[in-house]
Amino acid sequence: MSASKDVVDGLVAAAREAKERAYAPYSNFHVGAALLAGGSVYHGANIENASYPLSVCAERNAVAAAVVAGDRSLEVIAVVAEEDEPTPPCGGCRQVLNEFGPTMLVVCEGASGKRAEWPLPELLPHSFGPSNLLQ
Ligand code: THU
Repeated sequence: MSASKDVVDGLVAAAREAKERAYAPYSNFHVGAALLAGGSVYHGANIENASYPLSVCAERNAVAAAVVAGDRSLEVIAVVAEEDEPTPPCGGCRQVLNEFGPTMLVVCEGASGKRAEWPLPELLPHSFGPSNLLQ
């Protein structure tokens, strides 16, 4: 999956807006995500919980929004945090992205403006996915 610079710039801007709505009082690590699927943009931010393991990452909240809206073909996700270096998705989020967007593009931008882009298969090689079960 490739995407034009305008599309990616728009997603990064949307992720920055979503980050403002993160609920992260425990880690104070605010993350925003914007996901392109079926021509629509879905937003996510990390939402933590006093019972720490119940916290949910920004990426997975964006995937849930897309899937509930009926868009199961993920194309591009932009992820932003507040570190200078780009923050890549955690391993669990890579697995969840793989379920609905095995060839999608992942774009991460740091607060410095430094951007990193990977096709998901580079972040999750030799993945386990639906085809391993639904044969
Ligand atoms: N977090 C995300 O939202 N996305 C990631 O890919 C990495 C981690 C969140 C989870 C937690 O709320 C905080 O960042 C610190 O780990």
